[in-house]
Order: sequence, then structure tokens, then C-alpha cells
Amino acid sequence: MQDKVPSGLDRKETEVYRRLDRGRLPKHIAIIMDGNGRWAKRRHLPRVAGHRAGVAAVRSTVETAARIGIPALTLYAFSEENWKKRPASEVGFLMGLLSRYLKAEVPTLNKNNIRLEYIGRQHELPAEVQQRMDWARDATARNSGMVLTLALNYSSRSELVDAFRAIVNAAAQNGGLDHLQIDEDTVGRHLYTRHLPDPDLVVRTSGEMRLSNFLLWQLAYAEIYVTPTLWPDFRGVHLLEGIAEYQKRERRYGGLNHSDAHPEHSALATKS
Ligand code: FPP
Repeated sequence: MQDKVPSGLDRKETEVYRRLDRGRLPKHIAIIMDGNGRWAKRRHLPRVAGHRAGVAAVRSTVETAARIGIPALTLYAFSEENWKKRPASEVGFLMGLLSRYLKAEVPTLNKNNIRLEYIGRQHELPAEVQQRMDWARDATARNSGMVLTLALNYSSRSELVDAFRAIVNAAAQNGGLDHLQIDEDTVGRHLYTRHLPDPDLVVRTSGEMRLSNFLLWQLAYAEIYVTPTLWPDFRGVHLLEGIAEYQKRERRYGGLNHSDAHPEHSALATKS
């Protein structure tokens, strides 16, 4: 029996969606949005035109993910390195774009029952951008569907540094460091992503094979899907193609695959 396709998917999305195993959708997808500059360069446009075009890709991807019931989507919108190493004019443009995006998008986020969150060193962003971010988070706080997390001024190494500092400070205020015990759970509870499960799938656009300081702890067992599509050309259908590819992989978490662990069940064993 062909079960129902969620409303709102277009024809191409529906085609790919029908091939998916709905019982094995990733619970958390993280995306490294890359290629805005190259997209603009190919069109002899300034880099910022690529960022502007990237907003349509964000919109399509977020809506499709919410429609098919992905519980969490995290987008790497702006790294700490971007902030420090790009010209002030480009950084200023990105800040303005983010503010406009948040203002314009809140009704759509609410319509799709999406709750907005952020990770990264928010306190270093311009005050008016922080205010807009707080406003958008509050305006979507009661939604119970997908959690959309924007990584802004984010660096995975800084996140780990902040986590270790928080662990030590909390211990110092709670009777000292003598009995401090740190395990994986302790670290996880002090990361910016403590509201999220670890991503099952990380998507990177524009063909680069790097993690670029993104969720290094949390991506330990994630499947990696790299597509040559540049971010401004990315749409919901590309996300679904990434999920289809993810579903072809066998996740072992450091263990064995089924036939190696149970050779008596393998095709060869049953034939002989
Ligand atoms: C990487 O492309 C992209 C960014 C640094 C910014 C991402 C921003 C957006 C997608 C638009 C706004 C997002 C939101 C959430 C409103 P790049 O400039 O590094 O591209 P290149 O590698 O081709 O130069």
C-alpha cells in the first residue's frame, strides 16, 4: 500500500519521497551551506548576491524538512572564522540578511510549527541582531514541530572550550574540583547542542570534503553526504536525495555489519 505523501511537496519531491523508508528518516540533519560565492562568481555578480540567493535555498530546505517530519535541522549559517576573516562589508551584509530573514520568516516558521534555536557565541554579534534573534526565538517558542537551529558565529572548538570552562566553573561553585568526574554525558550536557540529539546525517554543498569546524563532537557517527550543488541552487528535493543516499548506508557505530557478526545468516553459509 502506498501511504500518504505529506501535503506541500512538489512533483519532484514527491517522486523522491516515495522511494524513502519513512520509518528510517534521520532524526537530526545538519547542513554546511557552501558555494554562495562561487554561485555569484559564475554569474559575474558580487559575492553578496550569492548570499541573497541562498535565502531561497534556506526557505525551501526548511519547509521540506518540516513537511516530511524531520525532528531537527541545523544550518551552519555563519562561522566564527567567517566573522573574523571576511571583509567587514560582507559580514555587515550577512548580518542584515539574517535580520531580514528572521523578520520575514517567522510567520512561515509558525505556519509549519517550527521552533527556532541558535548555537554559537551570540553575545559577540551586533546588539540589534541579537535582539532580532531573541524576538524570533520567542515568537516561535511554543511550536512543537521541527527544531530549526541556526549556527551563528559558531566554531566547534570554541563550543568545546566553552563546555569545558562551564564544567569546571560549575564544579568550582559546587564544592570544588576534587570530586569532578567528566564523562561523555557531562560534555554532551554542556555543549550548545544540549537541546538536540546528535545528527544522523550531515550534508555539505558545493563539493568540498571538509567539516570546517562544525559540530566535531556531535558528528562522530554521522553519515556524510557531499553534493556538488552550490547552496543557492539547493532545494528541498536535494535534501530528499541526500536522505535517500543516507538510507542506503549501513550504520555500524564501530561494530560489525550484520553478516560479519552472524556469519551463519550470510548468503554463502546458507548455500553451503
Ligand atoms: C558559504 O558560502 C555561505 C556563507 C558563509 C553564508 C551562508 C548564508 C546564507 C546561506 C544565507 C543566509 C542564511 C540565513 C540563515 C538567513 P561561501 O561564501 O563560503 O561560498 P564560496 O565557498 O563559494 O566562496
